[in-house]
Amino acid sequence: MLDIAAFDLNAIGPEFIEDPHPTLHALRAQDPVHRNADGSLYLTRYDDVLKVYQSRDMLSDKTEAFGEKFGRCPLHTHHTTSLIFNDPPYHTTVRKLISGAFTPRKLAEFEALIDEIVDRLLDRVDDLGELDLIDDFAKVLPTEIISFMLGIPPEYRARLRGYSLAILGALDPVVAPEKLAEGNAAVTEFSEILNDLINHRRAHPEGAHQGEVLESLIFGEHDGRRLTQDELIQNCIFLLNAGHETTTSLVGNAVGTLLDWPDQHRLLLDDPTLIAPAVEEFLRIESPLQIGNRLAGEDIALSTGVVPKGTYIHTSIAAANRDPAVFENPDVVNITRKPNRQIAFITGIHVCLGATLARVEGRVAIGKLVKRFPKIAQTGPRTRVPLARFRGFATLPVRVR
Ligand code: HEM
Repeated sequence: MLDIAAFDLNAIGPEFIEDPHPTLHALRAQDPVHRNADGSLYLTRYDDVLKVYQSRDMLSDKTEAFGEKFGRCPLHTHHTTSLIFNDPPYHTTVRKLISGAFTPRKLAEFEALIDEIVDRLLDRVDDLGELDLIDDFAKVLPTEIISFMLGIPPEYRARLRGYSLAILGALDPVVAPEKLAEGNAAVTEFSEILNDLINHRRAHPEGAHQGEVLESLIFGEHDGRRLTQDELIQNCIFLLNAGHETTTSLVGNAVGTLLDWPDQHRLLLDDPTLIAPAVEEFLRIESPLQIGNRLAGEDIALSTGVVPKGTYIHTSIAAANRDPAVFENPDVVNITRKPNRQIAFITGIHVCLGATLARVEGRVAIGKLVKRFPKIAQTGPRTRVPLARFRGFATLPVRVR
């Protein structure tokens, strides 16, 4: 068993990013409410993580924490203005404005579009024969869908993943100065593009087939309040990032998992109706978003004792989703796992707004790929996105015949 006394989340290295689970299992077993050198806590038990997310007293506002991390800069403006890092009442306003576009009825309208995009992509995959599963397949569908929802014209879409990795990458516990510079440049460039698009939509509100989310953000009101231009821009950037990076990872991680677990691949081939529970298992075993954060606004009783108000808490979604107290044989992939109470989308007031959409995208993309190309095989080494917070592949070379 690893000695975890010296573990510090703020000093993790590439070996943790490659495979965090030996460390997470050791932390959960020996020190489930682990104190980092800066006094913050890192939680690895499912019940503790769940309790934090369910408590209304655990705060998401990061104005102070990001002030220390970033100083005054575009990254600070962005991350402190998006709904995810805010509390009510601002969080409630933005969430209400966006959620109208994510109702089951609205999402049902997207199913045909998702089917159509996946079929088109698979035809291209067929033509290519050998390809990079991430670049040529996984990232395309979520980028197209969220861009459609926000009315982002096709010529900008290819840049979205670069922006998103630079902006989200700055949230990692350890960030090199050049990565911060890349993140700031990405926020600035992305903001300029969105500023123009928003101004154009304000001037031409009529007949928006695409860009429904953008429209409700610009023109919608909650409690008599509309979003300011800056709030609009930063929340659009957040939605674009949230809408594709994690879903790209879901699809890439799922294919990586099936390649590593041929018995589960066979099972899914033999019974395609298993795709829904299979997606839940992919989300559990390789959660695309691995770490969350809250500030204790009040004392909170966790499994090892009371944590005082004012404590900064990191939650390990990855560790919670492999807690042996909740999941039998947690490191084993079992696409028929039942029940599967995975919390990749968390729970509570910040529960992922795109969970239903991501599940549909995942089921269609993975289900159709597996069915059409049963002989899919890896042709070279995979590379990981070098981040601890987000887990996904940068490249995954495959052949499909
Ligand atoms: C597999 C894919 C996805 C995963 C694993 C995922 C995961 C998460 C998690 C864990 C959170 C909560 C973060 C926190 O408060 O600490 C979150 C929030 C959010 N997600 Fe997702 N997400 C995914 C896909 C999407 C998609 C496709 C969209 C939109 C199109 C989306 C939109 C959002 C939004 C708007 C929030 C903020 C909610 C709030 O603060 O109230 N997500 N997501």
